[in-house]
Amino acid sequence: MKFFVDTADTEEIRELADTGLLDGVTTNPSLVAKTGRDFIEVVKEICSIVDGPVSAEVAATDYETMLEEGKKLADLADNIAVKVPLTMAGLKTCSQLSKAGTQVNVTLCFSPAQAILAAKAGATYVSPFVGRLDDIGQEGMSLIGDIVQIYSNYPALQTEVLVASIRNPMHIVQAGLMGAEVCTIPPQVLKQLVSHPLTDKGLAAFVADWEKTGQSIL
Ligand code: G3P
Repeated sequence: MKFFVDTADTEEIRELADTGLLDGVTTNPSLVAKTGRDFIEVVKEICSIVDGPVSAEVAATDYETMLEEGKKLADLADNIAVKVPLTMAGLKTCSQLSKAGTQVNVTLCFSPAQAILAAKAGATYVSPFVGRLDDIGQEGMSLIGDIVQIYSNYPALQTEVLVASIRNPMHIVQAGLMGAEVCTIPPQVLKQLVSHPLTDKGLAAFVADWEKTGQSIL
């Protein structure tokens, strides 16, 4: 499973990239707004930090402007994945950009039917938002199961399932069990993944026992 981090904070991205665990980055207009920085500048900086795909979202909602914005974003760096919303205009833009060889992430997916359309439009990634479905009392992860199953019926399909709107480590574990290709994870959830009280307890005991030996490896 590939791990993308869902943030536009370049300091957080640098810190996580240094761990060697990061395969890419996703941003969205809300995450960019949180940084208070110039969008193009931030995207360029992120692309220089990570080699993997960096999702940068168009701002327009009409096809013509979306396509123009998408082309501009794609020209910023080789590792840009243009992010478009799951609307008819977004799908049309996806189709055009994909044909031109640009990676496209179709975002704001909330149903299996929408995911089928994204694949038909040639999306590199489809982003189903699991947390936002959980928030309205639906089972977000069952959407992932459905999409993975549908896509697996068509082995020629190249579209990868990018699990988005992740809120906790169990979303990632379930995504792995279901065979989703990518999880985009908020930095705090990525850090939570490593924590286990028995790891802390076990390590404390090993450190204490090692000290008793009076030895040094180096
Ligand atoms: O970047 C898209 C998605 O991951 C947003 O998540 O937490 O705003 O629902 P959230």
